[in-house]
Formats: sequence, C-alpha cells, structure tokens
Amino acid sequence: MDKRLLILPALLATLAAPAQAEPSSRVAWTPETLALVKAGNTGHGQELAKNLGCDGCHTGSTMPDAPHLAGQLATYLYRQLHDYKDRSRANDTMEAMAAGLSEQDMADLSAWYGKQEASAATPAQGAVEAAQRLASQGDKQRLVPACAACHGGGGQGQAQDVPRLAGQKPAYLAATLQAYKKGQRHNDVYQRMRAIAATLSDEEIHQLAEYYAAQGH
Ligand code: HEC
Ligand code: HEC
Repeated sequence: MDKRLLILPALLATLAAPAQAEPSSRVAWTPETLALVKAGNTGHGQELAKNLGCDGCHTGSTMPDAPHLAGQLATYLYRQLHDYKDRSRANDTMEAMAAGLSEQDMADLSAWYGKQEASAATPAQGAVEAAQRLASQGDKQRLVPACAACHGGGGQGQAQDVPRLAGQKPAYLAATLQAYKKGQRHNDVYQRMRAIAATLSDEEIHQLAEYYAAQGH
C-alpha cells in the first residue's frame, strides 16, 4: 500500500482522538505473529471449525449477520479472533466463542477459512451508482478516501489486515459499517474505519453494502 495512505489517517486520528480513546487492536504484526498465521495447520483448523460449531453460523448459513469467512485474509481473521478474545471487539457470541481458543487454534482456524474459495456474489438490490463512485474515487469534498485505495479495486482486500469485502453478506456489511459509525466497533487501528464510516450517510452505507456484496472473485 502507498505509505502516504497510512500516514494521513494516522495523523488525523491522533488529532481527533479524545484523551480517553478506547483501545483498538492489541495485535502487533511481529514477524513471529505473521509466521504463526502463515504456518497455520489447515487440517486442525477444519476440525475445530466443525467441532466448535463455527461452520454452523459461518458456512452455508443464511444468518444475515454472521459474515462469510471463506476466502477472507487469514491475517485479518486471526486479528479479529484475537480482538474478540481480549474484548477489543465487542460481540457476546464471538467473545464467548473466542474465549477458549489458543493462539495456535486461532492461527489454524484462520488458515483454514482463508484458503477456502470465497462466496459467490449476490446481485445488488436497488441503485448502487453512488456507492460505485465512493468505492472507486471517494469524495474529495468530504475527504472520504476511495474504498478501493485500501480494499482493492475489486474489494478483494490486502495484506496484512484490510479485509475482503467482495461477496460478503450485505446485511453484515451494513451492520458493521453502522457499528464503526457509532463507535461500537472500535478495534480498527488508527480509527481509520471509524473516521471513514462517520462521513457516510445511512443511504450510502446501504448502497456500499449492496455494491460490495455484488462483487465477484
Ligand atoms: C452462533 C453463531 C456463531 C458461531 C457459532 C460463531 N460465530 Fe463467528 N460470528 C458470528 C456473528 C453474528 C459475527 C458478527 C459479529 C460482529 O458483528 O462483531 C461473527 C464474526 C466472526 C468473525 C469476524 C469476521 C469479520 O469479517 O470481521 C470471525 C473471524 C469469526 N466470527 C470466527 C468464528 C469462529 C472461528 C468460530 C468458531 C470458533 C465462530 N466464529 C463461531 C456468529 C457466530
Ligand atoms: C485507509 C485504508 C482504508 C480505506 C480507505 C477504507 N478501509 Fe475499510 N477497512 C480498512 C481496514 C484496515 C479494516 C479492518 C479494520 C478492523 O480491524 O476493524 C477495514 C474494515 C472494513 C470493513 C469490515 C469488514 C468485515 O469483514 O468486518 C468494512 C465493511 C469496510 N472496511 C468498508 C469500507 C468502505 C465501504 C470504504 C470506503 C467508503 C472503506 N472501507 C475504506 C481499511 C480501509
């Protein structure tokens, strides 16, 4: 990623951060942590996903608020599990699910889901032209960066932990953008997604969710 993209939001976040800012993620991408996720044991991950019931909600389920994990970046998945476990990201179900996982379990589950083929796109409901513009160009007047600058032109995500958005469930995408907007989800490093979501209207969030759910491989 262009380094300047990282520096600007960091700077804005520092300026805007209230003194009692919530902690964001506690995961640091040290070479050891990266190596742990990269070497995750997919066979053990597959077993855990089945035995712990992860698949029941995340694979082939129609629960609109349980995101697809297949094809997501393993490093992103690992960090989210870690964040639920230490409660940097709040969700009752997922905090309980992550509580008993070891570092190795989280690496193995992430490696397993990461290597699955991503879910197919679902056709967008309603107009998405405004979302397409925001995704590819942003809005200079409101200082909204193009989503594509970080999430990639097709919403495919980017190392280490910019998630894939393409083909994700639209209800989940909208709900999690709303959670960033309200500050309920606050594990994003440098508050980047909170700052971006805060500039979006509810209609734009709805359209962006439909737009990305409709992107294919
Ligand atoms: C009862 C249903 C349920 C079960 C079982 C469950 N999850 Fe989840 N999971 C959810 C929901 C709902 C969310 C979205 C929560 C939120 O908004 O923070 C979620 C979110 C996640 C995320 C964040 C994904 C993202 O795109 O940010 C990961 C990673 C995850 N779950 C992994 C797992 C793993 C691994 C297991 C098994 C150990 C598991 N889940 C079990 C329902 C479930
Ligand atoms: C400066 C880089 C950057 C830009 C620009 C950006 N994002 Fe993100 N986005 C991220 C990162 C990093 C994360 C992971 C944050 C976290 O861990 O909570 C993320 C997370 C997300 C998520 C959560 C996905 C999930 O599976 O839970 C959504 C949805 C999202 N971004 C949508 C957007 C949209 C829509 C735009 C454009 C309006 C956008 N992002 C612009 C970096 C960016």
